[in-house]
Amino acid sequence: MQSFNEHFPLDPSICYLNHAAVSPWPLRTTNALTDFAKENSTFGATNYLKWLETEQQLRARLAKLINTHDTDEITLAKSTSEALSIIAYGIDWQAGDEVIISSHEFPSNRIVWESLAQFGVKTVIADFPTSSASTIADPINSIQSCITKNTRLVSISSVQYASGLRINLDALSLLCQKHQILLCVDAIQSLGAIPFDQNKVQADFIVADGHKWMMAAEGLALLYIKKERQNQLKLTQFGWHMIKDKGN
Ligand SMILES: Cc1ncc(COP(=O)(O)O)c(C=O)c1O
Repeated sequence: MQSFNEHFPLDPSICYLNHAAVSPWPLRTTNALTDFAKENSTFGATNYLKWLETEQQLRARLAKLINTHDTDEITLAKSTSEALSIIAYGIDWQAGDEVIISSHEFPSNRIVWESLAQFGVKTVIADFPTSSASTIADPINSIQSCITKNTRLVSISSVQYASGLRINLDALSLLCQKHQILLCVDAIQSLGAIPFDQNKVQADFIVADGHKWMMAAEGLALLYIKKERQNQLKLTQFGWHMIKDKGN
């Protein structure tokens, strides 16, 4: 069995504790990327079909990580921010619709919703505690108090990036289902460290880049879109991989 230091051959001069930002690469991440770079420089794209298999395997593993079975619900984006933008600009908003976020969301999970003001969509901020000593009420109650008949979506981090506050996703999901509100979970601060049970949570959307607890390189993110929501999202990006018969 390899020791921790063998998995993470960090320079002895540093003690890398901050994982909430960008994880150091474990050796297996470095090896996978180095092997891929070497393969490109020696064989070019000869093994392209194998690469597509690897992509399918990744989607299957991500499905397992969030405890869902359907890999058709898993797609890949370039970042959490891009995944959030695909969702925000895919929904068919009506003027007057409201989106609830928390007061401490990472900017990626705030500015994209605020940008929808151009379509008459309002971003409503639920007050969240900044620390466990805070006097602010339970986060679920705080979200609940923001719900109106116009609330269309709640977008919340599973774990807040600054305070580390972990939301009760089961309770939030029940609340959203009760009010028929879409639920979008930014899981980048928890996925890989804390189990995510989509079978229970039943989120409509889940987003998470791999560079925190999944310990991958930046630039490859999970974008989960529940089957029932897929045909409700407008397409805002187009590419040749999205057509069935790629030759035509
Ligand atoms: C909660 C949260 N969401 C989104 C992001 C940004 O992720 P990305 O760089 O993949 O867009 C971060 C980065 O720290 C984050 O903490």
